[in-house]
Amino acid sequence: QTGKFTYDPGFLSTASCNSTITYIDGDKGELLYRGYPIEQLAVNCDFLDTCHLLLYGDLPNADQRTDFHGRVTNHTMVNEQMQFFLRGFRRDAHPMAILTGLVGALSAFYHDSTDINNPQHRDIAAIRLIAKMPTLVAMAYKYTVGQPYMYPQNDLSYAGNFMRMMFATPCETYKVNPVIERALDRIFILHADHEQNASTSTVRLCGSSGTNPFAAIAAGVACLWGPSHGGANEACLNMLGDIQKMGGVAKVGEFMNQVKDKNSGVKLMGFGHRVYKNYDPRAKLMRETCHEVLGELGLQNDPLFKLAMELEKIALEDDYFVARKLYPNVDFYSGIVQRAIGIPVPLFTAIFALARTVGWIAQLNEMIADPEYKIGRPRQLFVGAAPRDVPPLSAR
Ligand code: SDX
Repeated sequence: QTGKFTYDPGFLSTASCNSTITYIDGDKGELLYRGYPIEQLAVNCDFLDTCHLLLYGDLPNADQRTDFHGRVTNHTMVNEQMQFFLRGFRRDAHPMAILTGLVGALSAFYHDSTDINNPQHRDIAAIRLIAKMPTLVAMAYKYTVGQPYMYPQNDLSYAGNFMRMMFATPCETYKVNPVIERALDRIFILHADHEQNASTSTVRLCGSSGTNPFAAIAAGVACLWGPSHGGANEACLNMLGDIQKMGGVAKVGEFMNQVKDKNSGVKLMGFGHRVYKNYDPRAKLMRETCHEVLGELGLQNDPLFKLAMELEKIALEDDYFVARKLYPNVDFYSGIVQRAIGIPVPLFTAIFALARTVGWIAQLNEMIADPEYKIGRPRQLFVGAAPRDVPPLSAR
């Protein structure tokens, strides 16, 4: 009898933990970080305020804000040895391959001094990771384009510093565009946490063995890379580009027919969600951010943005999508706005990882702080061969 593997989605979708960090109502399309609606945070706060909220449970007052921003700013540089680690990669390596390696390599510098069960050690690891991710993502980018690394500049904002490390060169002074700076900061807020998604669950499971937080976050980076998860923004932009090549808006109907044909394997990337069966609130905010950035850059007639809005309009009126409660998710517009800012497509998921690091580390720290937590050990439904005796070779 040969075993037949059957997958029981219900088995894996049971609640995996208690958490106080992020609440999602998938049917209503609601997302709250520590009780604050994402719509209010995206407008009234900046990303570092949101990091403070996710890590410590509340928004910082003025003194706490100054202290937290200062602590992060003072940890933005990475050890000079990290440059030699990069040199092992081909210049055309995918930025997520590089980032997975770089984040894991951070553990080589901090593993010995980090006791995951010490709250102070967990806190400094969180600060270091939040502070260093923009530097590592920018280094990965600079390495692939053969430009010198730009060191962090402490008088800039978190988003402004990242922009300068990405786009400046030593040859000229770089001026941060405040509209782009605000848009990037908002993109970070929208991606900061999302309860027990695949990469967060990976970080929790990895961290539950007691490994250091840098290694656990590296596992999250690797999981996020997948096109069904954080890689969807890159896949979505490539999909829009393919439709554009097919003939643009005029070919949307033909493309949608491919999506509805189950045998085609074609998905409408940036649509659908494991939890949201309504509009992802982040997608609405991302579309507004798109409008702002394209307006600022004089790209209001960006063909891919127009194509995306047409796709969304058609899908939201199409019975196939309505019946399956398929709506735009966070990835549908995020690629268009990042491309307009000048971020290369392969780097989109690295930006997602940069932003999600605070969520990963907040969720990891919440788990480790729980005295009841144990190493994760999911079970299985065994549907394989029944017990049997080993036959002699002649009888096999
Ligand atoms: C992220 O978990 C998180 O929170 C993740 C995330 C986060 O912040 O961490 O929100 C980030 O990962 C967002 C999702 C990004 N992925 C994509 O945009 C890739 C395209 N979307 C899908 O592959 C899909 O929607 C999933 C994987 C996200 C969800 O897949 P499910 O669980 O199968 O969705 P479902 O059960 O709601 O599907 C219902 C039906 C199925 O068809 P039927 O078998 O009922 O006929 O809709 C179909 C699905 O096949 N379907 C799609 C589709 N998504 C689901 N059909 C076409 N295009 C799609 N995008």
